[in-house]
Amino acid sequence: MSSRQYFGEVAHQWDKMRETFFSEAVREKAMSIAGVQPSKLAVDIGAGTGFITQGLIQRGLRVIAVDQSEAMLKEMGTKFQGIDTIDYRIGEAENLPIEDKVVDYVFANMYLHHVENPPVAIKEMARILKLGGILVITDLDEHNFEFLKTEQHDRWMGFKKEDVNRWFVEAGLKEAMVDCVGENCCAQSSCGDEYASISIFVASGEK
Ligand SMILES: C[S@@+](CC[C@H](N)C(=O)[O-])C[C@H]1O[C@@H](n2cnc3c(N)ncnc32)[C@H](O)[C@@H]1O
Repeated sequence: MSSRQYFGEVAHQWDKMRETFFSEAVREKAMSIAGVQPSKLAVDIGAGTGFITQGLIQRGLRVIAVDQSEAMLKEMGTKFQGIDTIDYRIGEAENLPIEDKVVDYVFANMYLHHVENPPVAIKEMARILKLGGILVITDLDEHNFEFLKTEQHDRWMGFKKEDVNRWFVEAGLKEAMVDCVGENCCAQSSCGDEYASISIFVASGEK
C-alpha cells in the first residue's frame, strides 16, 4: 500500500487518531516560534485534515494547505466549509505547487517522517519562502518503534536533531535551531501490546 492509499483510508478518522497521538500544544509551540502575524500567508505542508491550518486561520492568517492525499484535503474542506482564507492544493514533497519566494511561513507537522528524502523536502519548503520567511517543522525524535512503519506507514523512525539542523543549514536557512516541544507523541500498536511514547522536536530557520 502506498502512503497516499494509507492516508486515503484513514482520512475520515484522522482527527480522532490525531487526538490520541498529540495535543494542540504542538501547534501552539510551532506558531509561537514562528511569531505568526495576522493576514500573512502561510503554507501547511502535509496538511492532512488541517491540524496546523486551524491554528493559523484562528490567528487571521491566510493558508495554502498542501497534501498528496485528495481524501485528507476533502475531509479538511468539509470541516472548514465557508472559510475562504484556505487554498487547498494537491502536491508532492519534491515538487510543491507553489512559486518561488512567495510565502511568509511554512509549517509541516508530522510530515517529514513520511517523505522519501527529508533533506530534499526541506530544500523544497525553503524554496517557496520569501526572504525573511520562516520554516517550522515539528516531528519525531529518533526512536525504535518498528510497528509505526508497518501499522502507520511511517518511512523514517524519527530523526536526530543534529541531522535536521544540518538539513536546514544546507537549505540556506539562517538561525537554524532544533529544540524539544516538551510533549511526546503516543501510539498504541494495534497488533500487540507495544506502546510508543516519542519526544517531539521543533525545528526552525529563517530564509
Ligand atoms: C501524519 S499525517 C499529518 C497530518 C497533519 N499535518 C497533522 O498534524 O494532523 C502526514 C500527512 O502528510 C501527507 N504526506 C505524506 N507524504 C507526503 C508527500 N510525499 N507529499 C505530500 N504530502 C505527503 C499525508 O498524506 C498526510 O496527510
